[in-house]
Amino acid sequence: MPALIGRDIPEAAQLLRAGKVIAIPTETVYGLAGNALDARAVARIFAVKNRPSFDPLIIHVPSVEAIHQWVEAVPAPLQELARHFSPGPLTLVLPKKQIIPDLVTSGLPNVAVRVPQHPLTRSLLELLDFPLAAPSANPFGYISPTKPTHVQDQLGDKLPYILDGGPCQVGIESTIVGFVNKQVTILRKGGLSVEAIEEVVGPVQVQTHSSSNPAAPGMLKSHYAPRVPLRLIDSDEVDNLEQSDRVGLLTFQKELSTWEHQFALSPNGDLEEAAQQLFAYLRLLDTEDLDLILAERLPERGLGRAINDRLSRAAAEQ
Ligand code: TXA
Ligand code: MG
Repeated sequence: MPALIGRDIPEAAQLLRAGKVIAIPTETVYGLAGNALDARAVARIFAVKNRPSFDPLIIHVPSVEAIHQWVEAVPAPLQELARHFSPGPLTLVLPKKQIIPDLVTSGLPNVAVRVPQHPLTRSLLELLDFPLAAPSANPFGYISPTKPTHVQDQLGDKLPYILDGGPCQVGIESTIVGFVNKQVTILRKGGLSVEAIEEVVGPVQVQTHSSSNPAAPGMLKSHYAPRVPLRLIDSDEVDNLEQSDRVGLLTFQKELSTWEHQFALSPNGDLEEAAQQLFAYLRLLDTEDLDLILAERLPERGLGRAINDRLSRAAAEQ
């Protein structure tokens, strides 16, 4: 049976209080949410997603002040980042209070916390007296959902409710920031650019992992992957491609009218628009009968860096 899709916040709150797992909108991607303090609800999230338990979850809270309720301390530079960019596509990794179940953090002493910006989910969080643990609402390893229908298509029969907040405005996951050896450290590139962060706190380390080492949770090399194999190509290769009906093409700006299965992420070269469209276009290409998807590498600046990260993980062998 498909999930009910609607905009009923009290209904969503009631389901969550009853320990159910539902889909919620955020500005980045849709989340698969449950009561973070209820280990059974958290276990259900892992089960619905078919996610390995070594991959920890992000908890979602209604405000910057609410972060302090669930963590032991917030280092000054991360506090500064929260002040500038929350609510928004920023996640902070902080020492957890004991009340956060180990299942949420996969046994790690730190918990990832963020304040999402979507108005429906902010209203929902304000009604609740617990944070929401929420990974992206896709089967583990697949492309993240940026529309309610993406969630319905893949997980609808396992969920009672999808809170419909329309298409996601940012379109890629939050940027995850930790404090490693007393330095601000980007652990996952995402919807908040490294440049924007450095404007506030100065130069940062970038330490995104690419192995399936449980010490580097969640940053598995193969991730965000369509079923059709995907290969990254450089911009200058795009002009010399031989058109094929069996090959899909995802470009940054170029629109090649001779190609049957082609999308340009942003014809005007706007990296934010490109991020917003990325996962929806990958899903569309993945539903065509194709042997291969070719994806053009974006410029390594602003959100281009996070998009390239997603594309290279999608290209990694599964
Ligand atoms: O934008 C987002 O962050 C979305 C929306 C729904 O909020 N959520 C999301 O969650 O992308 P998920 O589960 O797909 O990715 C969570 C990742 C983990 O895979 C891991 O890399 C990192 O967050 N993470 C979580 N807890 C951590 C911790 N304690 N230490 C280090 N990394 C952690
Ligand atoms: Mg995910």
